[in-house]
Amino acid sequence: MKTHYLAAVCFAVLACNTKQKKQAEPQENKVVEKEQPATSVTSEKFGTLPDGREVERFTLTNANGLQMKVITYGGIITSLTTPDRDGNQGDIVLGFDTLEGYLQEVPYFGALIGRYGNRIANGKFTLDGKEYTLAKNDGPNHLHGGNKGFDKVLWTASEEKTDNGAALKLQYRSKDMEEGYPGNLDVTVVYTLTNDDELKVDYKAATDKKTVLNLTQHSYFNLSPESETILGHELELNADAFLPVNKTLIPTGEIKDVEGTPFDFRQSKTVGKDIEQKDTQLEYGKGYDHCWVLNGENGEMKHAATLHDPKSGRVMEVLTTEPAIQFYSGNFLDGSLTGKENKNYVHRSGLCLETQHYPDSPNQPDFPSTVLEPGEEYSTTTIFKFTVK
Ligand code: BGC
Repeated sequence: MKTHYLAAVCFAVLACNTKQKKQAEPQENKVVEKEQPATSVTSEKFGTLPDGREVERFTLTNANGLQMKVITYGGIITSLTTPDRDGNQGDIVLGFDTLEGYLQEVPYFGALIGRYGNRIANGKFTLDGKEYTLAKNDGPNHLHGGNKGFDKVLWTASEEKTDNGAALKLQYRSKDMEEGYPGNLDVTVVYTLTNDDELKVDYKAATDKKTVLNLTQHSYFNLSPESETILGHELELNADAFLPVNKTLIPTGEIKDVEGTPFDFRQSKTVGKDIEQKDTQLEYGKGYDHCWVLNGENGEMKHAATLHDPKSGRVMEVLTTEPAIQFYSGNFLDGSLTGKENKNYVHRSGLCLETQHYPDSPNQPDFPSTVLEPGEEYSTTTIFKFTVK
């Protein structure tokens, strides 16, 4: 009897709980329906290339609502949305709304750059006594991998599992002698939008023949989407030296102390402060378009740069395992391109901070080597960390 009574009480309690639960359910469901998943990677069709291949666009969202869109054409970051100091989200990279935008003559907006980021003098280099000839697509020099660099190829993309954020893996096989470079080269780039509000870019590659390689990312940043130019951004670079260049932007070979030059960014200063100084080196680049030699070890993760926009409060810190950083102040933007939301990209409306090896390293034996041998793994990482102040 007692047992029955107990069972009945238990049943009543359970039934009651279930009832309560049942009543509570619709409410809970409502909340759950509205909630966005903590992190996500989604994809959609972005466009079709002239040869009929489809280009996909992936959207990565981290747990704090930072969002990045990447297309399989060129591995291009088409948008990157971060909050300003008041929490308002804004897109901080230059780009286009459609694939057609990217198929015009575009100066590498948001793209992955390879095989060789930056310039190779006279489009030539020699490996083991054999001379290789590359496209001269920048005056007398080779730039950013040639006529059809990694910025213009279709990458294979898939979501990469990670326990910190949202990640996308991009892969591309560059065939032996593509754009004149030796070796079949397998490249993997993983973009991770971490829950610590970083964009982490991991580059890996392997070759079956000795070759040269210098991969980078070519996003044009403007941390103040409402501002026309980046001249009011404050920049600090962790570099005591930079590489002076000749008229065609090839390093002269000298590694020069920044002290007393417009290239001294050891203390944060506005990009516009010294940009018009009548210094021959600046005139060659028409502003900043130079490579800074980072303090710290090549191959080890270190602080490279901090960019701060006093207007929006956005801060972007750059960390890298690379030995150098090319700071390009968007000097060749001239207002002829109209991008997202009908924005006209005027002179210096965006800037690039391209972590990399030194330009023209294949021809400059005193620079850190960019040679990749079969059996070796190319592996570098760069982090862009977003905060506000
Ligand atoms: C180079 C510039 C070039 C720009 C776009 C940068 O990485 O340093 O000289 O104009 O890319 O092509």
